[in-house]
Amino acid sequence: MKLVKTIEEMRAFRNAVRKNSKRLGLVPTMGALHEGHLSLVRAARDKSDIVAVSIFVNPTQFGPNEDFAKYPRNLESDSKMLEREHVDVIFAPSVDDMYPPGAMTWVTVEGISDRLCGKSRPGHFRGVTTIVSKLFHIIEPDAAFFGQKDAAQVAIIRRMVRDLNMPVEIEVGEIIRESDGLALSSRNAYLDPQERKSALVLHRSLQDAQRLFETGERNSEKLIAVGKQEFAGEPCARLDYFEIIDPDSLEPVTTIENRTLIAVAAFIGNTRLIDNIIVDPHS
Ligand code: PAJ
Repeated sequence: MKLVKTIEEMRAFRNAVRKNSKRLGLVPTMGALHEGHLSLVRAARDKSDIVAVSIFVNPTQFGPNEDFAKYPRNLESDSKMLEREHVDVIFAPSVDDMYPPGAMTWVTVEGISDRLCGKSRPGHFRGVTTIVSKLFHIIEPDAAFFGQKDAAQVAIIRRMVRDLNMPVEIEVGEIIRESDGLALSSRNAYLDPQERKSALVLHRSLQDAQRLFETGERNSEKLIAVGKQEFAGEPCARLDYFEIIDPDSLEPVTTIENRTLIAVAAFIGNTRLIDNIIVDPHS
């Protein structure tokens, strides 16, 4: 496994691999890897000849009062995990390399970037789409692998790839959870034992809505009400949003008729967590 820290070296690696016409799969990450990330690496391993993983804590997707400075960084243990998964190359550039002083060009998917997390984290998705396009330009993957955990991110990246004719297939992996239901996240490391228990409220709220959906309820308002109720009993948790939306347009859905996304975000203490499920009346 090669650890590459500059754009130049990454391009050289890419060109060498292209000469053998090998299919390259990319898993973009911010590091602090867990089984959720590794499930994407395994999918990439399955479907590609060469697997690249990028590790870059992207400053432009963090708001001014968010956790950029304290976001967990541990390249050494991440590298060991990726070596065990037979990854071919890690791309771990510096901030100065990715954002040269005076950089003023952004990739923005308008409209849908202001929904869900984009509403409470203004500019977040602009940071994501900018860095993901840069990674695509540098690494030129045939396919890129993203987690359903960040459902809005998936919708926005798919739209960007379509709108800008990027020659990259987008593959999506299911949400990996702890045995008690908590979705894996690098931010779970911030939770103290009491908060760790409270954090289950996200998954419980989704399950409540899903159970009601399974009894035949299709009215979003009622499903949202039942989901939100869970938060009343969790003083440590502050709900950010609980929404029922179309998974592609991220537009609110009033009556569920097709495959629909139920998404939740909440602060547990100071830690912001997200989770979601898909419901489908036709399956
Ligand atoms: P990060 O939060 O490190 O996540 C990297 C990838 O892992 C994302 O596609 C995310 O959806 C996926 N992932 C995280 N937790 C998961 C889980 N429990 N189950 C399945 N997949 C999971 O998302 C980002 O980084 C950044 O925004 C990035 C795309 C790298 C751009 O900076």
